[in-house]
Amino acid sequence: MNAECIHLPPFMNWRSFPTSASLSQHAAGILLNAIRDNPSVVLALPTGRSPLGMYDRVVNECEREYRCFRDVTTFNLDEYVGVPRGHPGSYRTYMQRHLFEHVDLDPRNAHIPDGMAGDLDAECRRYEEEIRAAGGLALTFLGLGRNGHIGFNEPGSPFDARTRVVELTPSTRAANAEFFPDGNVPTHAITMGIATILESRAIVLLASGAGKQEAIERLRSGSVDESFPASALRLHPNVTVLTQA
Ligand code: GLP
Repeated sequence: MNAECIHLPPFMNWRSFPTSASLSQHAAGILLNAIRDNPSVVLALPTGRSPLGMYDRVVNECEREYRCFRDVTTFNLDEYVGVPRGHPGSYRTYMQRHLFEHVDLDPRNAHIPDGMAGDLDAECRRYEEEIRAAGGLALTFLGLGRNGHIGFNEPGSPFDARTRVVELTPSTRAANAEFFPDGNVPTHAITMGIATILESRAIVLLASGAGKQEAIERLRSGSVDESFPASALRLHPNVTVLTQA
């Protein structure tokens, strides 16, 4: 079965849930159904607080359904620059802790940009090439930054941008400062570009959490422009937005 079998409607579909638990349950169901439809599906995965409940439920389900992730390939959206993979604040550590250690995903198929690479631009090109070699992204899960960022595509990111090094805004650094208690909050990250994300065949945006209401309203009814990166999703034919009522 190919990736086009993912059961998502061909337009921006808004779903509202009464609790974060029900939203996470639904998101986990979408992820697991994608694997059931195509056991070698290529997924793009987010970090942050919003997907934690989804990963928790996926892990629980996979304990019952042995070998869920055996042939799956994953690409994370982003990683900090200059943060070693074993650092508690790195996205590699986050993924290990919340998903990878608990499922049978082949470590060779779990891709995260290397923010410690000597040549970061070459690393970004390599990451794009790996996505292409895997056949492209079938299903991408995204979180939503309070300023409308997706991945680490901050306001002003060109919609045609691909994986690259970006500078984090002060508000994004403040939002993630708690993960760097020594005060050394990273200033840069590698992120998939908006064009990379828009090439995914289907996209699910987890638009939940404190302080997101303004961004959600702007996504729903604001204009499509580069000052608000998530608005690029309105150009995509198959996006599902999960919000909390
Ligand atoms: C971070 C990540 C994004 C994430 C966003 C929202 O900056 N790079 O990919 O979507 O923050 O995070 P949270 O879910 O914690 O609100």
